[in-house]
Amino acid sequence: MRILAVSGSLRAGSHNTSLLQAAIDAAPEGVDVELWEGIGGLPIYDQDLEGTDLPESVRRLREDWGSADAILFATPEYNGSVPGGLKNAVDWGSRPRLEAALTNQNVAVIGASTGQFGAMWAQADLRKILGLAGARLIGDELPVTRAHEKFDHQGRLLDGELFERLRLLLETLALEAAPVEAAA
Ligand SMILES: Cc1cc2nc3c(=O)[nH]c(=O)nc-3n(C[C@H](O)[C@H](O)[C@H](O)COP(=O)(O)O)c2cc1C
Repeated sequence: MRILAVSGSLRAGSHNTSLLQAAIDAAPEGVDVELWEGIGGLPIYDQDLEGTDLPESVRRLREDWGSADAILFATPEYNGSVPGGLKNAVDWGSRPRLEAALTNQNVAVIGASTGQFGAMWAQADLRKILGLAGARLIGDELPVTRAHEKFDHQGRLLDGELFERLRLLLETLALEAAPVEAAA
């Protein structure tokens, strides 16, 4: 089982990326969580780029997102919503409509912010956007508040309860994403 981990933050010391690094360690047996870092290389969505000359970065997004068993998104909150770069990636992953990488893809959303609400608005917006893009939302939000206090200088998660919640979410995501066994 391969779960891609997509951070909505590009910055080197991102708490959201650290949260996904913790998810790699929290993954249950048999589940590989892999960081996917292609968001920063994508062009701004432009319908004129669809077709035979599709940019390589978009081709890679569609192939990687479409072939994963599930995707775990971690979003910061910028001005009460999803960072533009992450919305842009979802837009690319939502086309072409009938064969989009996100259509029926299993997704879960978590998020960290330095404020008191743990990127709740951004997570709610991202869930809405992913749902409209045709993805299958699994589990609830996981808001990480005061994120600057939850990781050490190396970005390692300090909060054991949060680690446990991550593990449970990954278990649920993996269960929901597992192929249904054919009846004997
Ligand atoms: C442009 C910008 C807008 C922000 N807006 C919000 C916001 O609306 N709500 C919030 O809780 N934090 C906000 N923040 C603070 C972020 O939560 C904080 O910078 C967080 O660490 C970003 O995530 P990262 O560590 O993964 O990069 C904002 C930060 C930036 C740079």
